[in-house]
Amino acid sequence: MSNTRIAFIGAGNMAASLIGGLRAKGLEPAQIRASDPGADTRARVSAEHGIETFADNAEAIRGVDVIVLAVKPQAMKAVCESLRPHLQPHQLVVSIAAGITCASMNAWLGAQPIVRCMPNTPALVRQGVSGLYATAQVSAEQRDQAQELLSAVGIALWLEQEQQLDAVTAVSGSGPAYFFLLIESMTAAGVKLGLPKDVAEQLAEQTALGAAHMAVSSDVDAAELRRRVTSPGGTTQAAIESFQAGGFEALVEKALGAAAHRSAELAEQLGK
Ligand SMILES: NC(=O)c1ccc[n+]([C@@H]2O[C@H](COP(=O)([O-])OP(=O)(O)OC[C@H]3O[C@@H](n4cnc5c(N)ncnc54)[C@H](OP(=O)(O)O)[C@@H]3O)[C@@H](O)[C@H]2O)c1
Repeated sequence: MSNTRIAFIGAGNMAASLIGGLRAKGLEPAQIRASDPGADTRARVSAEHGIETFADNAEAIRGVDVIVLAVKPQAMKAVCESLRPHLQPHQLVVSIAAGITCASMNAWLGAQPIVRCMPNTPALVRQGVSGLYATAQVSAEQRDQAQELLSAVGIALWLEQEQQLDAVTAVSGSGPAYFFLLIESMTAAGVKLGLPKDVAEQLAEQTALGAAHMAVSSDVDAAELRRRVTSPGGTTQAAIESFQAGGFEALVEKALGAAAHRSAELAEQLGK
C-alpha cells in the first residue's frame, strides 16, 4: 500500500478506526482523504489523523486508487448514484455497508470493481474480523489492497460466495453482542452467588479475554480446549452439563440462523 491513495466516503466510527489502523501501519496522511457532510466530523478526523477532508464526495475521490464506502446502508444508493459520473474505471470500490449487495452497487455505480466486506465492532480497538467478497472485475493487486485495508483493524478472510456474508454477519458481525450477553449473564449469576458486582464483572470479562486468547493461540480446536479444562465429576462438567441439558448448542444454532435470515431480508429491502 506504499503508493496507494484511499478516499473514505463517510468519516464516522468505522472510517475513523480504519484510518487510525492505516496510519499505524505507516500510511502517510497524504495517501488518505475523507469526505463527510458533518463539519465537526471532518474537523475531528482531520485533527486526529492529519488527513485532508472534503464536504464534497466527488472531490474526495479524484485521483485515488481505492474508494471506501463507509456510510450507513440507507445512504448507499444516493451516495453511489452521485459518485457514478466521477468514477474512473480502475478505481476499486470497497463497501463496508451491511446488507448492500454487489449487484445493487453495480446497478447504482456502473461496472466498477467492488469488494464487499462485513467487519465487526472490535475493529474500533483493532481486534476486528472481516469477511471479504470480490467481484470478477477485481484484480489480484486490488484484492491485496482490500486485504491490507481491512487487516489494519484485525484479520480479513476471503469468501468464495457473496451469500456467505449473511453467515459472516450471523457469526462475527453480530457476534460481539453474543459475548456481551454471556458476560452480562455470568456477571449477574456471580452476583447471585455472592460476589460484588464489580468483581463479578471483571472476572467474567477477563475470563472471556483469556479464553479467546487461548483459543486463538492454541493449535487445537475449542472443543478440545474445553475437554482439557473439564475434569470428570468436577465443577466445569457440572456447569457444561447444565448448559447442554438446557439445549445450549441448539439455541446458538437457532440464534445464528435468525441473524443470517434477517441479514438476507435486509439486503433484499435495502437493495431496491
Ligand atoms: N460500526 C460497526 O461495527 C460496523 C460493523 C459492520 C459494518 N458497519 C458498516 O459500516 C458503515 C458505517 O458505520 P459507522 O458505524 O461508521 O456509521 P457512522 O458512525 O454513522 O458513520 C457514517 C458517516 O457517514 C456520514 N454520511 C452520511 N451521509 C453521507 C453522504 N451522503 N456522504 C458522505 N458521508 C455521509 C455520516 O454523517 P451524518 O452522521 O451527518 O449522517 C457519518 O458521519 C455502515 O454501513 C455499517 O453498516 C459498521
